[in-house]
Amino acid sequence: MPAEAPVLSERRGAVGVAYLNRPDARNALSADLMDVLADLVESWDADDDVRCIVIAGGETYFAAGGDIKGMAEQDFQAVVAAPTASFWRRVADCATPMVAAVSGYALGGGCELALLCDMVVASETAEFGQPEILLGIIPGGGGTQRLTRVMGKQRAMELVLTGRRIDAEEAHALGLVNKVVRKREWLDRAIELATVVAHRPPLAARMAKRAVLAADEVGLGAGLDIERRLFELAMATEDRVEGMSAFVEKRKPDFRAR
Ligand code: CAA
Repeated sequence: MPAEAPVLSERRGAVGVAYLNRPDARNALSADLMDVLADLVESWDADDDVRCIVIAGGETYFAAGGDIKGMAEQDFQAVVAAPTASFWRRVADCATPMVAAVSGYALGGGCELALLCDMVVASETAEFGQPEILLGIIPGGGGTQRLTRVMGKQRAMELVLTGRRIDAEEAHALGLVNKVVRKREWLDRAIELATVVAHRPPLAARMAKRAVLAADEVGLGAGLDIERRLFELAMATEDRVEGMSAFVEKRKPDFRAR
């Protein structure tokens, strides 16, 4: 992709790394950026060689949210018709595990994008928040729902109603972030985590992701049922035969995504 593209990408082994790339707008999520990012994530999701995805911003900002300048022009009809409305669903539908690498600001849609990922690695400089209320709107990319599931109603309510930003340590204490790392390690540690996941048997990794996400979507009984069906499916894979044989034979497993 050309350097001025709104999203840059590279492969690190079986990990696909997407870099949001609108530095002049603090990586604000323009319609163009969202479209390119969703296309990229979908193409990696369909690629057997990509086993985990990292979504990264830059060192001083992950993303400052929806593009306020673009949104300022939109009337009701334009908002309803905007293709960006499908962006969140398209990325959420990705079966491949995803890690957000957050350094600097992750605000509004930026925070929602991090929340949409399955795990979040944050630099000690990271700041999260849902400042939409300060603009006279509310989060529109899943913030009210995913923040509430991550940290509980009272805490999410405070952030959504006040627009207060939280630092990496508070985000970690609230469960939004998996680990806080030193500033210079923000990307390497995220890729490191993604690489661990990328080495796990891919079918089982996808099933595990689906099962964990089901906990947010259905009640306990239905969730346990989904887990059981996925467990039975995992038992039917060649990879689990290989994994269990390797354990018994005291050797390293050779997983083939079958
Ligand atoms: N949309 C469009 N442009 C943005 C932007 C955004 N969200 N955030 C920053 N920019 C632009 C600024 O307008 C500025 O452009 P110009 O140089 O043309 O003036 C440039 O990026 C640099 O911005 P700042 O000078 O403000 O940079 P800073 O480093 O001093 O501050 C910041 C960074 C704290 C992130 C600040 O820019 C900011 O508060 N941005 C807005 C954050 C926000 O309100 N996000 C929510 C957006 S709405 C949303 O996300 C809806 C949704 O749910 C999808």
